[in-house]
This record gives sequence, C-alpha cells and structure tokens, in this order.
Amino acid sequence: MLLVDLDPGALERAAEQVGSGTEWFAADVTNAEQVRAAVGATVERLGRLDVTFANAGVFGVVAPVSEYPVEMFERVLAVNVLGSFLVAKYALPAMQDGGSLIINSSVVGLTSDVGIAAYATSKHAVVGLMRTAAKEMAARGIRVNTIHPGPTDNEFQHKIEIEAVGASREESARAFESMIPLARHASPEEIAHAVVFLASDESAFMTGATLAVDGGLSI
Ligand SMILES: NC(=O)c1ccc[n+]([C@@H]2O[C@H](COP(=O)([O-])OP(=O)(O)OC[C@H]3O[C@@H](n4cnc5c(N)ncnc54)[C@H](O)[C@@H]3O)[C@@H](O)[C@H]2O)c1
Repeated sequence: MLLVDLDPGALERAAEQVGSGTEWFAADVTNAEQVRAAVGATVERLGRLDVTFANAGVFGVVAPVSEYPVEMFERVLAVNVLGSFLVAKYALPAMQDGGSLIINSSVVGLTSDVGIAAYATSKHAVVGLMRTAAKEMAARGIRVNTIHPGPTDNEFQHKIEIEAVGASREESARAFESMIPLARHASPEEIAHAVVFLASDESAFMTGATLAVDGGLSI
C-alpha cells in the first residue's frame, strides 16, 4: 500500500501505524505533476497498482449560496473535484485490468442541506466523474464506484457540526444524530469496511454504483 497526502510527517506516522511495507508519497492532489509522480512512485515501489482510493477532501465553510466566498468555492472544487479527476486520470492507465477505483463522495453527494454549496456541489460532481470512468474502463474490467459516508466520528465531521449548529461539540453531535435513522455517527472503521468491500472481489459485479454508508441519512 502507498499513502498519499500533503504532510510528510503525518504520512510517516500513518504508514508506521498501517504496518511494515506501507509506503508514502507527499503530493497535492490539485497538482497534476505531483499526482502523476505519486502514481509513478506507486508502480515503481510496489510493482503494480490494483486499487486506488481517491479520498482527499476539504469541506470549506457554512454559508448561504449568496454569501459563499468565491475563493473558498474554487478551493473546495479544486481539491474534491479536480483532485479526484487527476487521481483518476493518472491512476487508471497505470492500474491492472480487473482493478478497482473508489472515489470518496459523501451523503451530500446524494442529498444536500443549507449552507454547504461548495462541498455538496463537489461531492455530486464526482458522481459524474465516476459514472463516466466506469463506462470507459469497463472493457478492461476496472470497476469505478463512489462511496457516500454519512457523519463519521472524527475531527473533520465534528468541526463541521460545530460550525453548522453553533453549539458545543456534544450538543452539535446530538443534533446531527437526531437526523440519522440509525441515530449515531459511523465509526471510521465502518467506512473503511465499505471501501475494502468495493476494493475486493466481493463487489465484482458492482461498477458505476453510489454506495451509501450513512445510517439511512439519505433515505
Ligand atoms: N468525516 C466524515 O464524516 C465524512 C463524511 C463523508 C465524506 N467524507 C469524506 O471523506 C474523505 C476523508 O475525510 P476525513 O473525514 O478522513 O477527513 P480528514 O481531514 O482526516 O482527511 C482528509 C485528508 O485529505 C487531505 N488533503 C486535503 N487537501 C489535500 C490536497 N490538496 N492534496 C492531498 N491531500 C489533501 C488532508 O490532509 C487530510 O489528511 C473526504 O473526501 C471527506 O469529504 C468524510
């Protein structure tokens, strides 16, 4: 496995946690040359590329469309949409036939809510990218799917909840949980299990799918 993110220190620590043999490469997914180099490093160091997970993402801010800062909108689309596109563009030709590309969208790639114009737009956009790539790559047996996680118990999500609800971490979390049919956050492991499923042959007949892992939030 080869991990890609921005910060070399954080990557080194994450690679140690994942276990021996885990490689890392620092790259900004909005930079075509860096993404190309990350894919090249993967094939060079691991010998082949079977599974790609386009996971990097940023949220932006909570603001109505009419007040949403233009630069922030552009930044969110750059990371979430251009980034996913560049990962797909460079990884797909390098992948083995029969491989799997998974793009991390969100429950708000299927629905939306007030104040999240940039994030929801970006997470809907990658569904279009996924469907196009799924059709293009089918002849090589490469499957392309999106995963749509609901609120997950980590810092990325708690920060959003505090900004959206405007209350304490616990109160904001409860407000979100009251909207989720299963009435709780996902654990990061529950999201990872769904990604592993899409990566594996257990999902061999799935391509072009939008897999919601959201406790029923998108129902
Ligand atoms: N946490 C949730 O509840 C939730 C729900 C639905 C979808 N998601 C999606 O899951 C994905 C992972 O998010 P997370 O919750 O683990 O949050 P996170 O902030 O821990 O992970 C996002 C990672 O993306 C990296 N990143 C940001 N910009 C980058 C860039 N330009 N180049 C390379 N890497 C960059 C960050 O450094 C960070 O490590 C994101 O796409 C997010 O939108 C998260």
